[in-house]
Amino acid sequence: MLVTGGAGFIGANFVIHTVERHPETEVIVLDALTYAGNRRNLDAVAGQVTFIQGDICDSEIVDRCVRDCDTVVHFAAESHVDNSLHDPSPFIRSNIIGTFTILEAVRRYERRLHHISTDEVFGDLPLDSADQFTEETPYDPSSPYSASKASSDMLVRAWVRSYGVLATLSNCANNYGPYQHVEKFIPRQVTNVLTGARPKLYGAGVNVREWTHVDDHNEAVHRILADGRIGQTYLVGSGDERSNKEIVELILELMGCPVDGYDRVDDRPGHDLRYSNDSTKLRTELGWRPRYGDFRAGLAATIEWYRDNEWWWKPRKSETEAKYQVLGR
Ligand code: NAD
Ligand code: TYD
Repeated sequence: MLVTGGAGFIGANFVIHTVERHPETEVIVLDALTYAGNRRNLDAVAGQVTFIQGDICDSEIVDRCVRDCDTVVHFAAESHVDNSLHDPSPFIRSNIIGTFTILEAVRRYERRLHHISTDEVFGDLPLDSADQFTEETPYDPSSPYSASKASSDMLVRAWVRSYGVLATLSNCANNYGPYQHVEKFIPRQVTNVLTGARPKLYGAGVNVREWTHVDDHNEAVHRILADGRIGQTYLVGSGDERSNKEIVELILELMGCPVDGYDRVDDRPGHDLRYSNDSTKLRTELGWRPRYGDFRAGLAATIEWYRDNEWWWKPRKSETEAKYQVLGR
């Protein structure tokens, strides 16, 4: 199995999960080790996977990797909305050209592909409603990040229809768990508290996200690889929706701080209001259920992971905060 982006947050957790629970699978990781990738994310499986440092836009490397495997699980992407607003170009390159390069190799060698995407391709939902995204919701992306992911999904769908590529897609809600870069919402606030800084809430903090543990996301990917129908899209989400303000307050409470000990900063331009996935198809067709039903417990375990693994995040913290300073957030 070729795992692109296997040194990033979700990809590394996926590789560890795969080695532990599917030991018969030989894993090759292809990752460019951008600012978001870290070889040490794979320390737990060192010697058990083959690591290739390379760019998914490099058709020669991609060709060699794809030729040597049966299945490709494609996580590699630029993944942060704030970065995409500041400079969209790497998003266009890695997310669109990169996916095109993978698709061409998969087409050439007739390999099975699973494409990892996000619910952000659908745009956003009103705050005070029970509306949810479904597999039929029209695409309406808001940010350069979500537009580039939407483009990559469209390419996959077209390659399935026009060339018969054997691909499935999944669009997951926001993930949390170990090895998530300190630029993202939950790790940023946890590591702010750990370094004596105050959490930073965009705008009024009313925006809502559906939080899914990374292991639950990765279990869904394995279910889809095993029994998903070719050409189909599956939405993945825990059903646990929380406002950003609620999350910041919960982090502060779990870390033993006053719950109003955060700063409000300028809002993100074009900030999506709410995401919520209807994952009935994944649940009924493939029997998926989130194991991390208790978000508070999952968040507490994630906080402990950051507390115990300062060596992992500390080297990236100051450069990340310097980027936020430029953005004024
Ligand atoms: P991440 O930024 O933590 O990791 C991305 C990885 O891809 C890094 O290791 C990076 O080095 C690698 N990469 C980037 N560009 C590359 C290139 N051109 N060639 C080779 N490798 C490259 O991202 P993540 O949060 O783990 O997200 C993984 C995937 O899941 C992405 O496709 C993202 O869109 C999707 N997704 C993420 C979330 C979330 O909450 N994080 C939710 C739903 C979907
Ligand atoms: P993020 O982790 O960037 O994921 P996404 O934008 O892809 O959903 O942000 C999650 C939410 O948290 C989003 O509504 C923006 C907000 N946010 C803050 O309030 N403060 C922060 O410091 C960050 C990074 C995000």
